[in-house]
Amino acid sequence: MDVELRGITKRFGTVLANDNVNLMIRGGEVLGLLGENGAGKSTMMNILSGLYSPDAGEIVIDGKAVAFEGPGDGIAAGIGMVHQHFMLVPVFTVAENVVLGVEPTGALGHLDLKKARAEVEEINEKYGLHVPADALIEDLPVGIQQRVEILKVLFREADVLILDEPTAVLTPQEVEEFFGIVRSLKEAGKAIVFITHKLHEILAVSDRINVLRQGRITGEGDPKALSEADLAEMMVGRPVSFTVDKAVAQPGKPMLEMRNVVMLDDGDDLVLDHVSLTVRSGEVLGVAGVQGNGQTELVEAIAGLERTASGKIVFDGEDITHASVRERHRQGMAHIPEDRHRMGMIATFTIAENMVLNSYYDEEYTRGLSVDWGHVQETAAAFCVDFDVRTPSVFLPAGNLSGGNQQKMVVARELERQTKLVIASQPTRGLDVGSIEYIHKRLIQSRDEGDGVMIVSSELDEIMGLSDRIVVMFEGKIVAEFDNTAGSADRNAVGLAMAGASGETTSGAAA
Ligand SMILES: Nc1ncnc2c1ncn2[C@@H]1O[C@H](COP(=O)(O)OP(=O)(O)OP(=O)(O)O)[C@@H](O)[C@H]1O
Ligand SMILES: [Mg+2]
Repeated sequence: MDVELRGITKRFGTVLANDNVNLMIRGGEVLGLLGENGAGKSTMMNILSGLYSPDAGEIVIDGKAVAFEGPGDGIAAGIGMVHQHFMLVPVFTVAENVVLGVEPTGALGHLDLKKARAEVEEINEKYGLHVPADALIEDLPVGIQQRVEILKVLFREADVLILDEPTAVLTPQEVEEFFGIVRSLKEAGKAIVFITHKLHEILAVSDRINVLRQGRITGEGDPKALSEADLAEMMVGRPVSFTVDKAVAQPGKPMLEMRNVVMLDDGDDLVLDHVSLTVRSGEVLGVAGVQGNGQTELVEAIAGLERTASGKIVFDGEDITHASVRERHRQGMAHIPEDRHRMGMIATFTIAENMVLNSYYDEEYTRGLSVDWGHVQETAAAFCVDFDVRTPSVFLPAGNLSGGNQQKMVVARELERQTKLVIASQPTRGLDVGSIEYIHKRLIQSRDEGDGVMIVSSELDEIMGLSDRIVVMFEGKIVAEFDNTAGSADRNAVGLAMAGASGETTSGAAA
């Protein structure tokens, strides 16, 4: 099936999100879509899938113009979308989620889940998805949840699959498996639109690349003839530096000290197993590890979001083991959470409100007993300029921002105030290459101003590029430590430690 977008234009108030876009999507082909945060990628795909209707232009399927009045029409025409932010019901099983809305019924009109399960298994088999049909969504790792989203659109017999930043939350291993699935979909003749900010990924799987800038298609290219640097420049209109520019660290006094910190999960299993570490003023400590080895819990313990069972946490000389989140924040701890939707923002609040979400009660923003909204507005607008959060007004709901701009908003709020310690978890998730460059610069700036900085990231490149020292987490423990002054850590040794290799093989580990 071939699909064409002709002259698609879409406005949101004063924002021209798509400006006369023409796009060709062909069966048996992977079309890679690149563009800065807010360029209009998700909007364009929401139009293609029937979720939004365009202000002008048309969608043409196999030569015939169609008009969609909702996502139901899109899927009926064979176009299915996997959204940037998942839309599964956590307490339902895989099979239940897959059939939701199109439940097959038996002779008496009751739900025929057995039939649904059989179909799920068939699709599983055909495309090598390996999803357990009876598992509850909430018990599955993110990588598998995403395959459930893919299963869902395949179950609805989609011929065009739109995948909006599917790899943003995947581990490198899961990305490899995901590519395998994409290839088998392609071989089966499906058309795939793949959106990502990771240039090496788009080069690895796309047959054709289109670049979007400020709502317009500004470039088309052949992945075989383009480099990452070419793509970056096509996207942002200037050369982008992929390496982090920084001087050798000048570590000072300990800003954060963890001594034998233990955390248990609901089933009393150890999720933090006697973790001890130090982050000094003026240094970046990178925490490397395959997702799910205790990094999330480590950050929750430091930020005060989860109780620890034993051990001690000291922040700038003060014992904060039992301090509240607000106390830690007031003392100068910044926290960029890994999941911006769950922890970092309130989508229905305005951008201005989100910018002061954890500081509106500070003296700076209050006048007598009330909040000084004029000052909040000015500050929020300034933050947006500094961090290039693209919006026509700070009085719009934060949920209207594009995914990457939401992330920039959260990072701006955390870094644009007096801090002593920055805990940054997946700080550049979903950001375009230009924004990543800027956020990295700001994190190093925090370091050079004397903050202790801790970066948790599943991107090993990010850890290697930013950190002065690296610790590796495996099964809730810190299993190795590496000095990374001037990039001296051995990448392979770090990788081996991440995979749980024993102490002997990680001989690069420092005391
Ligand atoms: N529902 C909406 N209401 C108002 N404005 C919107 C809405 N959805 C998108 N926009 C605006 O349209 C523009 C394009 O957003 P879109 O989400 O398509 O960008 P994107 O290319 O997907 O970016 P990202 O890489 O950050 O996901 C942005 O300026 C955004 O603020
Ligand atoms: Mg998007």
